[in-house]
Amino acid sequence: MEPLQVIRTNQPKNKPNEGELGFGKYFSDHMFVADYTSERGWQNARIVPYGPISLEPSAMVLHYGQEVFEGMKAYRGMNGEIHLFRPEKNIQRMNMSCDRLGIPQVEPQWMLEAICKLVETDSDWIPQQVENSLYIRPFIIATEPCLGVRAAKEYQLLIITSPVGAYYSSGLAPVSIYVEDQYVRAVRGGTGAAKTSINYASSIKAQEEAKRQGYSQVLWLDGVEQRYIEEVGSMNVFFKVDGEVITPELNGSILPGVTRDSVIAMLRHWGIPVTERKITVEELFEAQQQGKWEEAFGTGTAAVISPIGAMKWGEQSIQINQGQIGEVSGRLYDAITGIQQGRIDDPLHWRYRIG
Ligand code: COI
Repeated sequence: MEPLQVIRTNQPKNKPNEGELGFGKYFSDHMFVADYTSERGWQNARIVPYGPISLEPSAMVLHYGQEVFEGMKAYRGMNGEIHLFRPEKNIQRMNMSCDRLGIPQVEPQWMLEAICKLVETDSDWIPQQVENSLYIRPFIIATEPCLGVRAAKEYQLLIITSPVGAYYSSGLAPVSIYVEDQYVRAVRGGTGAAKTSINYASSIKAQEEAKRQGYSQVLWLDGVEQRYIEEVGSMNVFFKVDGEVITPELNGSILPGVTRDSVIAMLRHWGIPVTERKITVEELFEAQQQGKWEEAFGTGTAAVISPIGAMKWGEQSIQINQGQIGEVSGRLYDAITGIQQGRIDDPLHWRYRIG
């Protein structure tokens, strides 16, 4: 592979105030770009000033949605060092998404080096406050100009970064969820397990309806019987019922989240029972009536751990754990963010130190 070229900006931007970052509104000074052609593979890797890209109006991504993406974060540790969190898992998932979408995969070590170099180039954009981080968004788009529906022969891989605070403006405060029983996010054999824009585009109508009714996220049910819980908004979902933590099993239509995987591993490390299985909404509402439903929370890179305090299903609206942050949710949030930020020991060796 040819060496990575770095062209630095001569007009660095002013940094936003750390107290007002929100999520995904500001972008650092540089971005990574590489091109793919079916003849030459991935080539021309470069770090250049962040800015608009040029695409033909006939670029296939604009017509047939040939895109995959990832979400990761870089953190500033206690002594100024920089960490990523399990970056190999994101790269592996990106390649799995590429495979599902017929997009050429990337060489994992090359991709990791690209991420590290970009983060180092913009290291002064990594926020200092512990609750903030530099969100990393790698994505691949089909750039070939063609209106035929088929695998494209030209692509671009880009990586952009964004200093972020909490994903939800409420921070760790519990969110309220609306069980969606009309629209579905994904079906067996579809693209639900891939991280691709098309899954998110098809979720927006339901998300807007939930918001209109005062709920911040949608709980998705399976696309066949609309009985089994899949995931919540842009996160995987966990419940604690009668002392046991349960989460929907990966069935091909659920995103295999890196935070999901980390939560399962951490719970096992602590000796807390956790089971991956099919879960219905009925069983949760029944457990609620019997006083056995103790906690619910979403997991994702952007939100980390997001406690769920209320849920609406048809005509029934309930509170979970009196709308408070549950004990396990809080403990997981502290452990995972503590490891990510380098504030506590890393018993499962998840931190990846860059600089
Ligand atoms: C993430 O959690 O990183 C995601 O990609 C979800 C996103 C839609 C913000």
